Amino acid sequence: MSKEIQPEWTPLEIATESGQRDPYPWFKDMRAKGPIRYDERRDAFDVFEYDLVTEVLTDWKRFTRRNTSFIDGAMMSRGPPEHTELRGMADEYFMPGEIRTFSDAFETQAEQLLDETLPPSGTTELEFVDAIAKPLPIMIIANMLGVPTEKMDTFREWSTTLAEAPPELTPEAKEKTEARRNRALEQINEFFRIEIEKREAEPRDDLITKFVRKEQESDTIDRENTVAQCGMLLVAGNVTTTTYMANAMWTFLEEDCIEPLRQGEMPLRESLQEVLRYRSPVMPGKRFATEDTQLAGVDIHEGAKVIGWISSANRDEEAFENPDSFDPTQTYHKQPVAFGKGIHYCLGAPLANMEAEIMLSKFLERVDTIELCADEITPFISPEIYGPVELPIRVTVS
Ligand code: HEM
Repeated sequence: MSKEIQPEWTPLEIATESGQRDPYPWFKDMRAKGPIRYDERRDAFDVFEYDLVTEVLTDWKRFTRRNTSFIDGAMMSRGPPEHTELRGMADEYFMPGEIRTFSDAFETQAEQLLDETLPPSGTTELEFVDAIAKPLPIMIIANMLGVPTEKMDTFREWSTTLAEAPPELTPEAKEKTEARRNRALEQINEFFRIEIEKREAEPRDDLITKFVRKEQESDTIDRENTVAQCGMLLVAGNVTTTTYMANAMWTFLEEDCIEPLRQGEMPLRESLQEVLRYRSPVMPGKRFATEDTQLAGVDIHEGAKVIGWISSANRDEEAFENPDSFDPTQTYHKQPVAFGKGIHYCLGAPLANMEAEIMLSKFLERVDTIELCADEITPFISPEIYGPVELPIRVTVS
């Protein structure tokens, strides 16, 4: 866990509320100006074109993810060979086949949540992010890890704190945000240290116990790694998957897709994949250059930040037929990279897709009409996450 002031990843151009609400014109402008720009203030190379973004994401020798994450010691913040060991510790439990075995349990949880949230009939107003998009991801990962569901609010608060940017660009605001983040990290680590010790004394059928066994069998994985892996899994999939569902609902409303989706005229699974491309929940792929190198003829010095902008790659005119439109029927010349690419490809992608599909299909089944009750969305202000922080809607149930 690092207590240092974190390096700045977000360019000033999109650090404002309007920039966070709609960074896409800036990305488009930057792609037109050239594939890479150097920002002296952040000592950062911002990379915008699809092919170069995928090069940055995949070439872990030249562009490392080491030290880019708040949670040190987990797979996300390490390179090979440690990354291979740490990823191997968790991989098998997140494979699509393994995740599918939980689908009945996820459906029951989604149904219960909707029973508690929606009236039996009539019209009601609700805040989609809080009421529908937030609860399932945290409940599911907490159940998989085997940690008490009564602490759900605390887990959610930790996840949000780690994803937030300072509300203003002043040194005081940055310091306050850092202090909150470090406190959350301390609490997460302390919480998992205790949970891990409990599993040593009394093994259970959960992921923490499985990780403890792997730690015991391994010569390289230590207690700090196990604590970090648990903490990272608890937080990595929450704000991301919540924002995925929120982006889906926002886009379906904006594009008038609710009725075709409800009637089965538009396939939900393909529409969700297009949401991931059109409004990717994670904007940057953060790396540091490990050596003096070149990318597209641009000199990059060792130690500089190199950011492959996933959100820009997913709107690249060269990669997609219709990049700035939400169009699930369009041809993808290249595969969207909303879950990254290469060794750090998102471990939780099958889980996130299944959660979103179950939650949204059940929600669309239960309601007759949905209306957005805001003229403009309020964006999450974050160096990583893109999407609405709240989405007030009015629904009718018959
Ligand atoms: C829609 C939801 C999600 C999105 C958009 C997303 C996005 C991403 C992206 C872009 C990366 C690669 C980052 C990079 O290369 O710099 C990543 C990695 C990762 N994600 Fe996700 N994620 C989501 C949900 C989840 C869930 C549900 C979990 C687990 C419960 C999870 C766990 C991870 C882990 C562990 C890594 C690091 C993998 C590694 O370093 O080998 N994510 N995610």
